[in-house]
Amino acid sequence: MERYYVTTPIYYVNSTPHIGHAYTTIAADILARHQRQRGKDTFFLTGVDEHASKVARVAAEQGLEPQAYADHMQGVWRELPSRLRAANDFFIRTSDEGHKRFVQDFLQRIRDNGRDDIYQDVYAGLYCVGCEAFKAESELVDGVCPEHDREPEWIEETNWFFRLSAYQEPLLRLYDERPDFVLPRFRANEARSFIEGGLQDFSISRAGQPWGIPIPWDPDQVAYVWADALVNYLSALTYAREGEDLRERYWPAVRHLLAKDILRFHCVYWPAMLLAAGYDVPHQLFVHGWLLLDDRKISKTLGNVVDPLDLIGVYGADAVRFWCARSVSFGQDGSASIEGLAERYERELGNDLGNLLSRTTAMIARYRGGALREAADASSEIAAQLAPLASDVAERLDAYDITGALERIWDVVRGLNRYVEATTPWTLAKDPARADELDRVLYDLADGLRAVAVALHSYLPEASARILDALHTDAEIAWEGVAYGHTNAVAGIEPAPPLFPRIELQGS
Ligand code: MSP
Repeated sequence: MERYYVTTPIYYVNSTPHIGHAYTTIAADILARHQRQRGKDTFFLTGVDEHASKVARVAAEQGLEPQAYADHMQGVWRELPSRLRAANDFFIRTSDEGHKRFVQDFLQRIRDNGRDDIYQDVYAGLYCVGCEAFKAESELVDGVCPEHDREPEWIEETNWFFRLSAYQEPLLRLYDERPDFVLPRFRANEARSFIEGGLQDFSISRAGQPWGIPIPWDPDQVAYVWADALVNYLSALTYAREGEDLRERYWPAVRHLLAKDILRFHCVYWPAMLLAAGYDVPHQLFVHGWLLLDDRKISKTLGNVVDPLDLIGVYGADAVRFWCARSVSFGQDGSASIEGLAERYERELGNDLGNLLSRTTAMIARYRGGALREAADASSEIAAQLAPLASDVAERLDAYDITGALERIWDVVRGLNRYVEATTPWTLAKDPARADELDRVLYDLADGLRAVAVALHSYLPEASARILDALHTDAEIAWEGVAYGHTNAVAGIEPAPPLFPRIELQGS
């Protein structure tokens, strides 16, 4: 059976979720749900990154032990996938015992690989706590990190280093042999030019910090947060299911999703570390752009935070998922706005999809007493519209084109609306001689909506289930259902309540 393992970056536990984090979680969930519908053996991982140096600092400011602080904050982060209706298979915490043990083993494997890939040296340099990375002078703007608007700190200590420089050639070979290793292509080129520019060894440990995973051969030092965090993608598989090691099942069938800010860590450091530790490199990495709000990157440091939980509270998880998938072509940078969310909610979800369901069910109830007759006509216009849908959507989602796949489904939603206007069932209902024609139109509408609901399951899990329920189908969401003629005769269809009711915003 084909395997599909998808991950989001693990989010810093000390920050609070904003819509940018929700963005990757939503994308990963859309891909995971979709692949499950296609019968693939799927695993979706998300979680939190707990060993950043900021965690210990913030905890101290609050008079807490880092662990107690992280225990509290992880609860906030667990709510994100849950409220977004993301069906993750595991939620990793890097303070899990299973993760800590695995990281120690992983680093020890690199140290023991016989190539002297880990060595001790003195490091002196400027360190940005925001990025959790050393910065070259050339990367600073007026002496501050442009990402975080703050001055880096001078750090000087004896650390353990990873010989990244030895992996320049193997990485270039990897990029040559696997042109789809990193997508989109322009991101692969970016990673490639970084590698070609020469790779510097980097420090994988920190001295004088008790918060972190102790280096197994030198417990006075802890693992550098990135050397610890990246390993989560592999460690989770060793303990997510008690008594089972999922590594054979899902590694290396992994698709890492991430935004461009952490491209180097994922596309350069991580494969090199895996090669050094004797593991296969990931199947693929997809680097998406930033979701901008009013043309500024949404981030806490810059102060334009949008709390996804608030938005879900007002519009519901489906609408937030829809807006994120639809506003910006996935992969590119782009802007989204709250006005855009309100607009899409009303026009696309409320009118295009919601009204289509209300009208279809109301007409079946009114003209046929709630009974739908089996009247499939393989040569109908709706049959033709549905014929290429399943493969078109699957093809786009296999290529991470979340936005394009949704647009393709929406073509059919619009097509169904045009079909109502063109066939005017209310006119047919007045003429007993056209009863068969009316049956066929109602069938095509119901069946078209059913097929669309199955296709939309990964984007709008709640609305999709409600549509299938309102049409009294058996709620089967297997991908084969994205096809014409899978609706059976049923009785008892009632006018469905609004799928996306109007929202009266306070103060508006
Ligand atoms: N903890 C590290 C990742 C370690 S993974 C081994 C980290 N955490 S983070 O909390 O800063 O999350 C970064 C990720 O959040 C990005 O890669 C991206 O997936 C998501 N995003 C955060 N802000 C975003 C936008 N404004 N737009 C799109 N995605 C965003 O980095």
